[in-house]
Amino acid sequence: MNVRDLRHLTAVLEEKFTGSGEPRFFRAPGRVNLIGGHTDYNDGFVMPVAINREMLVAARPRDDRIVKVYSCNFEDARSFNLDRIEFNREIVWINYIQGVAEFLQESGCSPGGLDIVLQGRVPLGAGLSSSAALEVAVALAFSKIFELEIEDVKLASIARRAENEFVGVNCGIMDQFISVLGRKDRALFLDCRTRDYELIPIKDSSFKIVVANTNVEHKLAESAYNRRLQECQQGGEKLASLLEGKIQKLRDVSPDEFNAVKDKLPEVIRNRCQHVISENQRVKDCCRALLDNNLERAGELISLSHQSLSSLYEVSCAELDLMIDIALNIEGVLGARMTGAGFGGSTVNLVENQVVSEFKTRLVREYNDKTGIDPDIYICEIVDGCSEIPGNWNEKIRNKHNNQS
Ligand code: GLA
Repeated sequence: MNVRDLRHLTAVLEEKFTGSGEPRFFRAPGRVNLIGGHTDYNDGFVMPVAINREMLVAARPRDDRIVKVYSCNFEDARSFNLDRIEFNREIVWINYIQGVAEFLQESGCSPGGLDIVLQGRVPLGAGLSSSAALEVAVALAFSKIFELEIEDVKLASIARRAENEFVGVNCGIMDQFISVLGRKDRALFLDCRTRDYELIPIKDSSFKIVVANTNVEHKLAESAYNRRLQECQQGGEKLASLLEGKIQKLRDVSPDEFNAVKDKLPEVIRNRCQHVISENQRVKDCCRALLDNNLERAGELISLSHQSLSSLYEVSCAELDLMIDIALNIEGVLGARMTGAGFGGSTVNLVENQVVSEFKTRLVREYNDKTGIDPDIYICEIVDGCSEIPGNWNEKIRNKHNNQS
């Protein structure tokens, strides 16, 4: 966020709302998951990074219980009363904010009314967690403005509950967690069961994290996601009876245990379990590789993750597979995989600095030749999790304004 952004948000706030007082500013990043696809809801391991595509929020308190929100992206204003929060069937986006307000209150906090302006810079439908960035940024605004003193993991959990229980989208904890707890130039190795995490320094500056958006979004994504949840649940139950062990989630099954009994599982369930169990191991191995600065090994594991998501877990699609194929044929690409739920969205690629420009040109050309679609390419920086934009920005804005007039 720069001074121009803040001036713009302030101007919109003043134009759309009648209140007064200085706004405060907040940001929350989107993410790419380097490895650990579809493991979070199996209590497994993931390793995302927060990226410099963010949700920006300007907010100031009101003296009533109304929350008024203007979305610059949708050019739409909506409002609701904190004491009468109801799901909005027509306007989907406002439910993310209502959900946050609902679960803040449910968890014992007492937020008040706000005027809010939203400016989303996380591309929508790209698999980069624009919704988690929105939930987290709004939750942080409430938390700071009303001094709710919510610690980080709880903030992430409230944001996730908004999405699961209010908006009605099943998702694991990964997206909200990284949007809160991510750190600059670090990947976050997260145990989704215990919520223990470790920030892994990305020491090597010889490569870039490049995200490529297929610009397709297949309709079956949500139903397939829910089906995978059920299949994993069934797999866990079957494995619990075969192994006669205490297995709550697939996370509890080691690769050796799985190999001993896998032939007794129906094929589809076997494949789903095989993916999750081997993927958990790959995340741990990739974490080790990054700590050892062994980029070649990290890249290899990332590419193996894609293969497994595509052939065993079946959440890829022709466009994602094509992108991965093109990427892996370019010398200097260390690894590539789909990221997010799948069936469209983006790939994440580790690309050596000297081939980034060639990567971009070739991927755009070859992908477009075969699909007729222009992909978007984002060369990403790893940034900090959500924060308030500190200090004297209002003053800076005024000074800049005065100097210009
Ligand atoms: C979506 C969900 C995440 C995670 C990924 C798959 O992005 O929001 O919680 O399950 O899919 O890894």
